[in-house]
Amino acid sequence: MTQSDRTNTKKLFIKTYGCQMNVYDSERMVEAMGGEGYVTTDKPDDADMILLNTCHIREKAAEKVYSELGRYKGLKSAKPDLKIGVAGCVAQAEGAEIMRRQPMVDLVVGPQSYHRLPELEAKARAGEKALDTDMPEEDKFEKLKRRPKAKRGPTAFLTVQEGCDKFCAFCVVPYTRGAEVSRPVSRIMEEAIDLVERGVREFTLLGQNVNAYHGAGDGGDWSLARLIWGLSEIDGLERIRFTTSHPNDMTDDLIAAHGECEKLMPYLHLPVQAGSDRILKRMNRQHTAEDYLRVIERLKEARPGLHLSGDFIVGFPEETEEDFQATLDLIEEVRYGSAFSFKYSTRPGTPAAERPQLPEDVKDDRLQRLQALITKHQREIQDSMVGRDVSVLFEKPGRLSGQMVGKSEYLHAVHVTADDVAAGDLRKVRITGSGKNSLSGELI
Ligand code: 5AD
Ligand code: SF4
Repeated sequence: MTQSDRTNTKKLFIKTYGCQMNVYDSERMVEAMGGEGYVTTDKPDDADMILLNTCHIREKAAEKVYSELGRYKGLKSAKPDLKIGVAGCVAQAEGAEIMRRQPMVDLVVGPQSYHRLPELEAKARAGEKALDTDMPEEDKFEKLKRRPKAKRGPTAFLTVQEGCDKFCAFCVVPYTRGAEVSRPVSRIMEEAIDLVERGVREFTLLGQNVNAYHGAGDGGDWSLARLIWGLSEIDGLERIRFTTSHPNDMTDDLIAAHGECEKLMPYLHLPVQAGSDRILKRMNRQHTAEDYLRVIERLKEARPGLHLSGDFIVGFPEETEEDFQATLDLIEEVRYGSAFSFKYSTRPGTPAAERPQLPEDVKDDRLQRLQALITKHQREIQDSMVGRDVSVLFEKPGRLSGQMVGKSEYLHAVHVTADDVAAGDLRKVRITGSGKNSLSGELI
């Protein structure tokens, strides 16, 4: 009899790749498996179940999953009771192929089927192969059991929407996460209130195309703006953010909320991907550079001082030096507080993967130039905070003794040395210094 049989607790090792949505999903899976007697471990060697929550957005994602699985081969032969599962977008994209290529995999579960994880685990324990990559329309989070009232940190992700109907020519999301689905308002509210009761002060509302949100609520479908206003009424909740948005879904009410809703933070992640209209068209983004700049102008009218962040792809098929220059011009105009940038890489099954590709050295060169410009703006914007008063939601102790770290409304990390500050406190801070990746300041 093993230790785990005696105590009736099993250990789950879960490794999460990719986006915040996956981090959120992993937390929910841990909670669901908690109901089945699992506790988490950070050592795969101790685990009764290893679960890889995979991401398909980066290049060779599937290959990386297979090589990661290969690393557990020895463990699996030494411990035949060990169950190995693959979740997330690679699970969705590859399906049963994973079990064919890696017979040691017991369980494959796509992002829309996590509520079935306990059932699938039981099936795997019974020695059967367990696979579910269906895309049902029910609310998977409602069916995931939550652990009662465990205390949480001051910030949390809250998934409100999943999937995407936009079909950008480079992107796998519409294929792996499926069609755009919004969670009903009541479910989100219930989860939000529960999280606030457990100590959460700030939500980041998550969705692949979050501002397309249109969940069923009182009196019909609610827009994201209406949901934000609804959430802002929860006592104890101080801050709301949301990510990731598409420029075409920046509706009037959402733009207005940036000026009017105090709990909505003045920081917006609004990817544009490229600054050339020709490339935007080839990307099937369905907006021009001018449309995007106009949305930003309106947002800044509503909320002066709004900080922006974005995503960029360089070296998309057919991108010329002139096209790339248009991207740099757009960046120069917007001046992002931060941004993610990527070299275009092919995703099988997406339209752009079939097109002739640019040479790698051209992509490398453009990525480097783009990142240098972003870094320069990021630096200037961060340094310009010195002397200003910001509000900081403190999250945890810093590296030095007596230090606490939190985030400003603009998402800058801020260090303060003070002994009367606790995680979860929201305090005014005067910024006195700007370091490599963070600001420092004094309580006011
Ligand atoms: N190649 C490079 N970057 C990509 N992204 C999505 N698909 C690709 C791809 N095929 C980037 C986009 C998106 C971010 C999450 O990942 O910039 O906004
Ligand atoms: Fe992918 Fe975003 Fe385009 Fe949807 S809007 S297809 S998630 S890049």
